[in-house]
Amino acid sequence: MHPTQQPGWIALSSHAKALKETHLRDLFSQDGQRFERFSVKHDELMLDFSKQRITTETIQHLKALANDCQLKLWIEKLFCGEKINTSEDRPALHTALRQPADKALYLEGHNIIADVQENLEHMAEIVERIHAGQWRGYSGQPIDTIVNIGVGGSDLGPMMACRALSDFQPLISNPLTMHFVSSMDGSQLADLLDNLKPETTLFIISSKSFTTIDTLSNANTAREWLKKASGVRDELLNRRHFIGVSANQEKMSQWGITPKSQLNFWDWTGGRYSMWSAIGLPIALKIGMHGFKDMLSGAHSMDEHFLHAPFEENVPTLLGMIGIWNINFLNIHAHAILPYDGRLKHLPAYLEQLEMESNGKSTTRQGEKTDYHTCPILWGEIGPNAQHAFYQLLHQGTESVMCDFIAPARRYHDTGNSELQQQHTLTLANCLAQARILALGDSVLDNSTSAPRHMRYHGNQPSTTVLVDELTPYSFGQLIALYEHKVFVQSVIWDINPFDQWGVELGKKMATNLLQPLNDPLAEANFDSSTDGLLNTIHRLQGK
Ligand code: F6P
Repeated sequence: MHPTQQPGWIALSSHAKALKETHLRDLFSQDGQRFERFSVKHDELMLDFSKQRITTETIQHLKALANDCQLKLWIEKLFCGEKINTSEDRPALHTALRQPADKALYLEGHNIIADVQENLEHMAEIVERIHAGQWRGYSGQPIDTIVNIGVGGSDLGPMMACRALSDFQPLISNPLTMHFVSSMDGSQLADLLDNLKPETTLFIISSKSFTTIDTLSNANTAREWLKKASGVRDELLNRRHFIGVSANQEKMSQWGITPKSQLNFWDWTGGRYSMWSAIGLPIALKIGMHGFKDMLSGAHSMDEHFLHAPFEENVPTLLGMIGIWNINFLNIHAHAILPYDGRLKHLPAYLEQLEMESNGKSTTRQGEKTDYHTCPILWGEIGPNAQHAFYQLLHQGTESVMCDFIAPARRYHDTGNSELQQQHTLTLANCLAQARILALGDSVLDNSTSAPRHMRYHGNQPSTTVLVDELTPYSFGQLIALYEHKVFVQSVIWDINPFDQWGVELGKKMATNLLQPLNDPLAEANFDSSTDGLLNTIHRLQGK
């Protein structure tokens, strides 16, 4: 049935009308137990959604809507490997990547958990060799620098995790420096190559398809740089300086990655859901295989919780359904991701891809156009930095914005560094202060109403706080799995396929069509007056 015709949706529509004029400050003053009522904890994560514009009735209606849309059944389909990515005719089995080794999951008669474990073993061998200084470059010196070349899901997850978990580097005899290169224009690579030592640099070419032009262009540039610097033949360079990670073995081999340096994964792992696979090699190099497996265990713990916990305790389901409430019933279409921890610097960019590439769609599973909103505009920044940038709009602008505050409760507690501990306390104070003012506005002050209008804070901006006990590989795995499942919950309610991304294809084709006219001013170009005009101007500026 069409989502908007579901009884739960209809009930939520009239409930929203009744609640529309109610300010969060009224909800808090009417109910001293909001925190107890509207917070849940699973393992190392706590979700406080008491600053959302909801009542117990809202939650009941959301639960009804989730049941109307058969959320439980869809979760089961996801986990058991049903081909729910229908437009690409395949399952979405990122959850299989974090299943314990003693479990089995059969896909077309084949136990894929055994494949996953085999792959982890291959990763472990590579990590061990590099950590032990046994992986040597063309001159015989041990590799000490890793450059991951990839884009989108082949970049953002590993980059985010390496930054988030840098406190967990194992003590190894051969410390590594890690870089991430994604930009098509070569600017990151150009800056890096000036400062890298070719004989000790290893490139990981990460690409699910191994056809992404951004990645292949950077990979080719890197190989040419190595060739020029070393004067060594291709075969040796490929063997000593390149690892490939892909679901496309054939393309990896064609490019020249030697079979022993190929790490595979499977078409049932979506690009933006792939950091748990061999795409996570940079993470394993950063925090060791042990840390990587802790991250997988954390995610698995969230998987089990998502699969089994009842709706009212189910953290990803609640996070997803609250988003549905804000987007479809309170008409809020902007979502800010605000980590209060510098180590989560890349979380906003990661979630931008995860959420917007998954649910930024307007066609239902039945091929109809949606007549309701789906994924909001998502953006974010480290919270304290954003306070000095875009919080002005959150506090006094005209847009309603829902916010996720994400913070670890404990940090630096065992370092003995009291200055840093104080900085953490200061950060938490800011996190709590901002969430409080966004919710309650200047009613938190005694004499707010006497202030001139430009100094007033209207509040009523809903937020959720995700409090992590402490940021570790395990809790980090839980956090990312939480958001993956949240995205899935919303896709079920919106009746869309979150696992394809057809909206990115036309741009790739059009760019290919534009290469020739850009290179050759005499090539026929008859696009549109803007594109033609820009082409002519570029030719003139390039002296063509
Ligand atoms: O073009 C979008 C996209 O396909 C993403 O979904 C993906 O994460 C990214 O490009 C990179 O793709 P690949 O890993 O195949 O290079």
